[in-house]
Amino acid sequence: MVVKTLNEFIIERQSDFPYAKGELTRLLSHIGVAAKVVNRDVNKAGLVDIIGEAGNINIQGEDQKKLDVFADEKFILSLQASAECCGIASEENEDFIAFEDEIARNGKYVVTIDPLDGSSNIDVNVSIGTIFAIYRRLSEVGHKAEKRDFMQEGAKQVAAGYILYGSSSMMVYTTGRGVNGFTLDPSIGEFCLSHPDIKSPASGIIYSINEGNYIKFPEGVKKYLKYCQEKDEQTNRPYSSRYIGSLVADFHRNLLKGGIFIYPKTDSSPNGKLRLLYEANPMAFVIEQAGGRATDGKGTRILDVIPEKLHQRVPLYIGSRNMVEKAEEFMEKFCKN
Ligand code: AHG
Ligand code: MN
Ligand code: MN
Repeated sequence: MVVKTLNEFIIERQSDFPYAKGELTRLLSHIGVAAKVVNRDVNKAGLVDIIGEAGNINIQGEDQKKLDVFADEKFILSLQASAECCGIASEENEDFIAFEDEIARNGKYVVTIDPLDGSSNIDVNVSIGTIFAIYRRLSEVGHKAEKRDFMQEGAKQVAAGYILYGSSSMMVYTTGRGVNGFTLDPSIGEFCLSHPDIKSPASGIIYSINEGNYIKFPEGVKKYLKYCQEKDEQTNRPYSSRYIGSLVADFHRNLLKGGIFIYPKTDSSPNGKLRLLYEANPMAFVIEQAGGRATDGKGTRILDVIPEKLHQRVPLYIGSRNMVEKAEEFMEKFCKN
């Protein structure tokens, strides 16, 4: 069988965009290279002194693990070197970074990124990931990136995807023409097309939510969870509960097998936990491209939310279309405000 590498694939797909000059292609391949570098260090996280906390608290008020810092640096350097990206907003940094050098200022794109997702799982050898989104800049080419470049609704994404550092490592991305997945072959150091044209099953039998927060959930979510746990042969209930605590890994499993992931608002976190720019939007673009659905649980499509702050959080209901719609029905019925 002939193997198709990530680079071959993205070059081939350039013709999907008749006016493309190869800029997005180059940007995506730089992300692929940075992913390989981060993957190498994730794989040896137990061997060298890069696990554990770096001693900084990031903008979200969480402990920053060393690998978060490492991944953040690697992606920033790689994107700057791509010459196609004029700025980057990262979950790990308070403000966006506008690259100063002339080559980068001529870049047409900006990137938002969660460089290391699921960081609480690093030191216990459980899957973690990277999530990224690419937007065309709004500010003038040749100048520094501006905040408005990053504050675009998710529907404006040009490309988005994630890297999963798991039992094998994968890159999954979309440019708005379906979703494709590539598995890293460590023997040749290349991501190879392994999951062409991924489709989200319309229904599944998995629900993913941190049930430890049950008491704080909206009534609609509590009732939906009861529904998931009830017996009903027609709809294959009770469903199975699966929750890793790394969005990338939970999302990826549900994307392939069918399922729903929910991170709702709670009394203490009225907008949930996950960030619109770095987590919800890229995953929403991927799931919609695969035929699934992503909303805030109150009828608003994630991709239509207009960002007001870089680090804005948003409740997230994402996965198989029928399952998300069912959860929304419960929200509609039991949560009026
Ligand atoms: P990050 O490591 O980038 O801060 O993201 C962690 C996120 C996400 O990956 C996961 O779905 C969620 O936090 C888990 O949160 P809980 O521990 O509250 O369940
Ligand atoms: Mn994250
Ligand atoms: Mn993170």
